[in-house]
Amino acid sequence: MSKNTLSVKDNRTGKTYELAIDNDTIKATDLRQIKVKDEDFGMMSYDPAFGNTASCKSKVTFIDGEKGILRYRGYPIEELAKKSNFLEVAYLLIHGELPNKSEYDSWVHDITHHTYVHENIRKLMDGFRYDAHPMGMLLATVGALSTFYPDAKDIFDTDVQKLEIRRLMAKTPTIAGFSYRHIMGLPYVYPDNELSYAGNFLSMMFKMTETKYEPNPAIEKAIDVLFILHADHEQNCSASAMRNVASSHPDPYSAAAAAIAALYGPLHGGANEAVLEMLADIGSIDKIPQYIERAKKGEFRLMGFGHRVYKAYDPRAAIIKDIAHDVFEVTGKNPLLDIALELERIALEDDYFVRRRLYPNVDFYSGLIYQSIGLPTSMFTVLFAIARMAGWLAQWLELLNDPETRIARPRQVYLGEDNRKYVAMSRRRKKK
Ligand code: SDX
Repeated sequence: MSKNTLSVKDNRTGKTYELAIDNDTIKATDLRQIKVKDEDFGMMSYDPAFGNTASCKSKVTFIDGEKGILRYRGYPIEELAKKSNFLEVAYLLIHGELPNKSEYDSWVHDITHHTYVHENIRKLMDGFRYDAHPMGMLLATVGALSTFYPDAKDIFDTDVQKLEIRRLMAKTPTIAGFSYRHIMGLPYVYPDNELSYAGNFLSMMFKMTETKYEPNPAIEKAIDVLFILHADHEQNCSASAMRNVASSHPDPYSAAAAAIAALYGPLHGGANEAVLEMLADIGSIDKIPQYIERAKKGEFRLMGFGHRVYKAYDPRAAIIKDIAHDVFEVTGKNPLLDIALELERIALEDDYFVRRRLYPNVDFYSGLIYQSIGLPTSMFTVLFAIARMAGWLAQWLELLNDPETRIARPRQVYLGEDNRKYVAMSRRRKKK
């Protein structure tokens, strides 16, 4: 009868240890019993980028990187993209089940009626430089919201959790819209409660002198589906930042600001902005081969390609590619699309990318859509953040309810100097 344990033999001592296996993992702390001398600290695992370390147990999102599978609370992303809408998906991620009619209506009503921000937030945003990056504005302003809602610190009060989740879901698009209007030198557009979540966001971005902004239905739908596709992705870098910061129990605005900061990086959410810069830099299809050769030499990363988990085509990229055609019907084809399609075709045939199992990821095509509806590249990651707020809040809530959660405090492998005496300035070595 096979035992659910791992037998480990320490060849330094000849001792054998039995480590319990749970969910196909061993508890890293069970390694501590493995010592040479009794006074030793004991063994640790070393995993600098957490490439093979489960930081938590979660029921929110499932990814099978080998098969290119993505499910939110068990529902395949392809079905949600086709049949649901972003606010319903956000409810699903955060609450664990699809809402019934009254739950959905109350959720939409609550979020719709929390879209306004304090007028001092508008004044605070006026202080940013005329050309401030919108992600920097979003990061700072979401963090600043914690000073307007001091009660949010009471994070284990379920009424507080409910209220702050609705506030963050509602106010993130408003701050995003304000940041766009700021860099465009345009007056801020206040929320329109008669529009959908995506429609209201488009209104806060693009409304001009018309009395009421009317979103193009194809673009409104495309933005809503893009929000669904970006809503969560299990323990990605920004969700991990959300959990890490949340583990010390600050208010959710401060934790969300940390998640936004992580998403800002070009290796994570910032990649959609970097893809467009890369495609513009390539400039024409005939330049692609030389570009790919430089990427293979390691001179730079092919932005929008590769993924820590997906070793198959990112299922979100496939859906975004379809959405792109719907949007281009309205806006006209983005001239960079042909470069993107040819770059993908060549890369997917090239042994360097095939051997490393590098496929287009969620960021490869999304920027083409954003650019075609008139967004500057600096806004691309902001749209990612609006959508991912749902996932960050789902992860935050799950962490607060997880009895195994403690403050995140990793160990290290110390390779620095051993104990040494202080040396007076006069006796220190001369700079070489
Ligand atoms: C997102 O985690 C998530 O879920 C993220 C995300 C989400 O929804 O939250 O899916 C969103 O962040 C998507 C990824 C967006 N980033 C990019 O498109 C930036 C370009 N991609 C790479 O930087 C990279 O692929 C990462 C960061 C996405 C993943 O990096 P890993 O897993 O650390 O891979 P690696 O650096 O170990 O690379 C393995 C090999 C290396 O070659 P060798 O050292 O083996 O020779 O693949 C190469 C890398 O040089 N490689 C690439 C490459 N990505 C990896 N070579 C060229 N172009 C690339 N894009």
